[in-house]
Parts: sequence; structure tokens; C-alpha cells
Amino acid sequence: MSQKRVLTGITTSGTPHLGNYVGAIRPAVEASLTGEFESFFFLADYHALIKAQDPDLVHQSTLEIAAAWLALGLDPDRVTFYRQSDIPEIPELTWLLTCMTAKGLMNRAHAYKGAVQVNIEAGEDEDNAINMGLFSYPILMAADILMFNAHQIPVGKDQIQHVEMARDIAQRFNHHYGEHFVLPAAQVDEDVAILQGLDGRKMSKSYGNTIPLFLTEKQLKKHINKIKTNLLEPGEPKDPDSSALFQIWKAFATESQTAEMRREFANGIAWGEAKRQLFELVNEQLLEPREKYMQLLENPAQVEDVLVRGAVKARKESTLLIKKLRSAVGIRPLG
Ligand code: TRP
Repeated sequence: MSQKRVLTGITTSGTPHLGNYVGAIRPAVEASLTGEFESFFFLADYHALIKAQDPDLVHQSTLEIAAAWLALGLDPDRVTFYRQSDIPEIPELTWLLTCMTAKGLMNRAHAYKGAVQVNIEAGEDEDNAINMGLFSYPILMAADILMFNAHQIPVGKDQIQHVEMARDIAQRFNHHYGEHFVLPAAQVDEDVAILQGLDGRKMSKSYGNTIPLFLTEKQLKKHINKIKTNLLEPGEPKDPDSSALFQIWKAFATESQTAEMRREFANGIAWGEAKRQLFELVNEQLLEPREKYMQLLENPAQVEDVLVRGAVKARKESTLLIKKLRSAVGIRPLG
């Protein structure tokens, strides 16, 4: 294995938004095109079930997210692009890892602790509405990563702890059963933009403040018009660095366009005009992908075909590794 392996998953519990694009899809697609890495990208649909228990939503989100990646230039021949649930070796590995994971480690996971805290503050039982999926979530994620011996895991800051847990679990497994796993590391790219949403908080489906990636022009304009600004009048200088609008501009613009907008802010550009220009900039870049996306949504069988082929590629590895692991833990033929 000479090239470094990069692997990341996208939970299929929503509609792709601008934040997903600039924070994850765009850098991943760009990295995959350099040929410098071997890339594994997958749709984490088992992870989606932890929170999204509406079957139609999970199904539709899987189609939309797969179509978005393809429409935005992911070339399935240059990467391994697959759906988690098409790899039965992943849940199998999850169990092997579960039996090597200290319960105390899971008690410390932020996502789980956060949910407990919410219950305590609401005066509920600590375990209220917490399923075992949420509790064991980091182990499933460790299986995703260790299954393909990935080195680098590009993630947002909120996921660093999970990658560290995958590393801990791998170490423990290696120590007990022999060296089977590469130890993964989180890769947090400081240059990658984290967009604010409509209300100024981080753009996230959990806050309901997102701008979906693929809207009609009219809807895109409407969403951009909803971005929170302040009461400064046209002609009054505005601060770009505290403006969600400027941040989104920066994530889509060239350096010189960004410098130009900075000057416009200093000169007191009207919010309405800034929004109009932002719409033009974003819309222009999404024109082609939008068309491709719409075409894929109308042909889900085409997307399915891509994923099925991706799974065949991925399983060439996962079936071999799981065979070795089963044997390593003592699950092997008797004769
Ligand atoms: N938990 C990740 C998220 O919510 C998604 C994910 C699942 C993932 N499995 C992964 C990311 C493996 C990186 C590697 O964003």
C-alpha cells in the first residue's frame, strides 16, 4: 500500500446544503482528482438510522446525497464510492470491535454525553430517548474506518473525538489479536470554510438554518435573501468579518473577488445589493451541477448502479479482511 488512504462518510439524514458542499464535498472531490490519495467515500446510512427513523427520509436522502456528489464532479472510477449498508462486513466488524471496546470509553463520547445532559437539564431520566445506536455510534464509525485501513479521515471538529476512539479501539484490537489495523488520524483542514447558516449559527441540519445546495433559482434567491444581516443602511460601512453573507461570499469567490467585496463592505454596500451579488456568484457555480443533479434524481437506477459497482470494489477488500479477522478471534472452521 503506497498511497495514503483517505476515507470519509456522510450521514444520509438530510438534504445536502451549501455548508456540506464547501466543507466536505468540494475539498474531497478536489483531493480525489489530484491522484495523490486513494479515496473512499461512502453514504453512512446505518448511522442515519440513529436519528432519522422515517424510512422515506432516509431513502430519499441517500439518493440526494449520492446524486449531489456525482453532480459535483466525483468520478466513481477514480475513487471507491459506496453505501455503508451494502458492505455486510461493516456490521460484522462492528461486533468484533464492540467486544474490544471499554464501555467507559463510550460513556465519554460527546454526542452521548450531550444527550444525557439535555435529559438532566429537562428533569428527565438520564437515558430518556437514548437508543443503543447513539451510545455505540463511535464503534460503527470505527468499523467504517478500520475496515479499509484508512490513514486520514477528513472530518469536522465535532468528529475528531470519534476518530480518536477508532484509533484507541484499533490499538486495543491489535494489542490483543495481532497487528491487523492501520491507526487512523483525523484530518481537520483549517482552510476549509465552515459556513454560518441563515441565523448566524453554524450551518447545520440540526439547527434547521441551512441553504440547500440544489434549489431552483427562485428558491435560491429567496434563501439568500433570508440570511441574517443588521440594520445598517446603504452607505454605512459594514464589517465583513462578522457577516454570514460575506463568509458565504468568501467560500465561493476568488481571492480578488473577495478583496473587492471587502472594499464594497467598507464603502457601505446595501445589504440588498450584496445579496443580489451573492446570488449571482453562487448560482453561476451551481448551474451545471444543478442540471446534472436533477437528471440523476429522475434516474435513480443510474445512481443505484454506481453504488452497486462501488460496493463490489469495496467488498474485494472487506471480504478478505473480515476472513482474517474472524480467524484471528477464533471463529474458523473446525475441520
Ligand atoms: N459520523 C460522521 C458525521 O456525522 C459520518 C461518518 C460515519 C463518518 N462514518 C464515518 C465520517 C467514518 C468519517 C469516517 O459526520
